[in-house]
Amino acid sequence: MSAGPEAGAFPPDFLWGAATAAYQIEGAADEDGRGRSIWDTYSHTPGRVRDGDTGDVAADHYHRWRDDVALMADLGLGSYRFSVAWPRVQPGGRGPANQKGLDFYSGLVDALLERGIEPWVTLYHWDLPDELEQAGGWPARDTADRFAEYAGLVVGALGDRVRFWTTLNEPWCSAFLGYASGAHAPGRHEPAASVAAAHHLLLGHGLAAQALRAGGAEQVGITLNFTPALPADDHPAVVDAARRVDGLHNRFFLDALVRGRYPDDVRADLAALTDFGFEGDGDAATIAAPLDLLGVNYYTRQVVSTSAMPGAAVVETSPPEGRLTEMGWAVDPDGLGDLLRRLHREYGDLSLYVTENGAAFADVVAADDGVHDEERTAYLAAHLGSCAAAIADGVPLRGYFVWSLMDNFEWAHGYSKRFGVVHVDYATQQRRVKDSGRWYADLIRAHRARHVAATSPSRSTGRAAR
Ligand code: FCB
Repeated sequence: MSAGPEAGAFPPDFLWGAATAAYQIEGAADEDGRGRSIWDTYSHTPGRVRDGDTGDVAADHYHRWRDDVALMADLGLGSYRFSVAWPRVQPGGRGPANQKGLDFYSGLVDALLERGIEPWVTLYHWDLPDELEQAGGWPARDTADRFAEYAGLVVGALGDRVRFWTTLNEPWCSAFLGYASGAHAPGRHEPAASVAAAHHLLLGHGLAAQALRAGGAEQVGITLNFTPALPADDHPAVVDAARRVDGLHNRFFLDALVRGRYPDDVRADLAALTDFGFEGDGDAATIAAPLDLLGVNYYTRQVVSTSAMPGAAVVETSPPEGRLTEMGWAVDPDGLGDLLRRLHREYGDLSLYVTENGAAFADVVAADDGVHDEERTAYLAAHLGSCAAAIADGVPLRGYFVWSLMDNFEWAHGYSKRFGVVHVDYATQQRRVKDSGRWYADLIRAHRARHVAATSPSRSTGRAAR
């Protein structure tokens, strides 16, 4: 089993966390006034999700959250990144708050703080209220305004206790899987509308960030998913295809957020689809308001082999090689360190947090009642090692969140993919800490012990005496 990085490789205030998302764990789909989201509709549409799975019950976290917080404390987590379900707070996506929805998250925040766990709120992890989708969804500009209104309600309820806020999780997925490929809710196949959706997601981020700051939020950012795109060979068409994948996947959102404009080459790539007529005066500035942090989600790389459709965003990727996870994703820990270095080099001194990193493997509960997931431990150790190397190179990486705290509803894959460091038996809802979870807890403890030893009075007295 991998020894992994030295605890001392991480700065003293490094935030050690685990992440989840509302629809993936909460269940209780019809309780306490929760409205319907696009993921309820999508998962209940036959043929959309593997085995017809839905998030109706999921990991039943809505009822088991107290035990789950106790589990987080046992693991020694410094922070917990969770998302707020918009349809719990505003069942139809507009109008006054559903107090019971807010109360649930308020209780969770209190319980975390009592255990010394820093709550990290994601406002949108893909569960758009279905009524807003019926009104046009993210391709409609009004959805951005609705999102800002919702952000104001949440910060009004939690802003006195929550320091860390991210607006959106992976808008690339919301826009392009939701509205172009249809692999995610709402399952539309409208490439032109998907670009408008991307813009309105970013606009929604900017407007929500204003609402968060007005509500006193201290640390405001966004989480993007990055997939390094490597050309399979040096054929010019292949190199250009890799540039296009990198452009749409990695630069489109970040350039708008940090540089205040979409990259020229990506605009040109998308010209066959859209004239960007959805851009309003002042949008660019709203989107590019300064960020306190950037959340980085990293799972794998992509090797781009050919360009199937010149001038558009469609390319082919080579089948991944080497060790693969259950998702069929290549294991490429160096890719994470390289990505962090690139973000620092090209986008400046932003505080970076890995807000998701992890792997699905075919876990089984062994005869001794343990879950011996050596591959996941090796994955985490190697990726944290890559983080440590980036930190040593001067990258301002301030925290790491494993995806995921517990096994959960993996979107179109249903319950067939297990990403947790805690195993969930869906028949009984029993939680079992996997070996990877114990390994992670040991690393966190070692880091904390080092930090305490380094700052304790006896140690400094000892030093002074020498
Ligand atoms: C990310 C999502 C997260 C989870 C992981 C595996 O794209 O943000 O909800 O599904 O992938």
